[in-house]
Amino acid sequence: MVLLLKTTQELLTERNKDKIKVGFVPTMGNLHAGHISLLKRALSDYDVVYFSIFVNPKQFGPQEDFNRYPRTLEQDLALIEALEKEYQNKKVIVFAPARAEEIYPPGFAQTVSVRGDISEILEGAIRPGHFDGVSTVVFQLFDLIKPQEAYFGLKDYQQYLVIKHMVNDLLLPIKITGMPIIREESGLALSSRNQYLSEQDKIVSLTLSKTLLKLKKLIDGKKENLEMANQEVEQTLKDKNWNYLEIRDADTLSTDLTNSKEVTILAVYQLGTTRLLDNLQVTIS
Ligand code: PAF
Repeated sequence: MVLLLKTTQELLTERNKDKIKVGFVPTMGNLHAGHISLLKRALSDYDVVYFSIFVNPKQFGPQEDFNRYPRTLEQDLALIEALEKEYQNKKVIVFAPARAEEIYPPGFAQTVSVRGDISEILEGAIRPGHFDGVSTVVFQLFDLIKPQEAYFGLKDYQQYLVIKHMVNDLLLPIKITGMPIIREESGLALSSRNQYLSEQDKIVSLTLSKTLLKLKKLIDGKKENLEMANQEVEQTLKDKNWNYLEIRDADTLSTDLTNSKEVTILAVYQLGTTRLLDNLQVTIS
């Protein structure tokens, strides 16, 4: 039976009882196969895994989908319960704060803000304050749970880098593990926001993964092809559904690729009010 904790006090009591090494999977719930892949990996690495479900108000802008973000706790718990049964002698502890105050006590006035050259570009430029909200909540959760390792999906590649920088700068003794993107057969990267898409949108949305694959093929692992790929990007961006489509260094997110050993093609394609994120890494020589 999965243990469900709804207050910070319950969480601290539980965590202080077993000062053993734990893995941690932070989520906003509405679980899909992407989240489940993180939990499976954490369960194969640790006997005890903490799993948080919290729709974090601080990472949503005023016009964004905080209110309509899908909240499906019962369904999520059933999925976790079923998975836990497959891993004998392993334990999942779900922390689903009943109120935002469990994470942000009244009068809370702190922000964890990661260097602007990582957090204020791309998603950070379109969603000002978004990564401050993400790093602040992840810091609070890390501080409460004190995991040895935390697992993040690489679909949010920039978020993964922001968290890695936070952990590095604040000397947090936590290993950050990025896990591969899980896709539908069509190529569409799984996301809780995909359910906002109509059947027609889903067809159009394939432009995103197809374009990334096309660019990866064009680059073909060779630095000398980057210029040609950037010309293709310029042409592609004539379609105004793109919020951005960029080839950047995979470690620093710099646009200077002179010394890059790996690049990442990062993109957001927007259909109506739904922004679809995706990325692809390409090793180059
Ligand atoms: O990726 C997410 O689901 C969220 O940004 C996270 C890391 C759980 C923080 O709220």
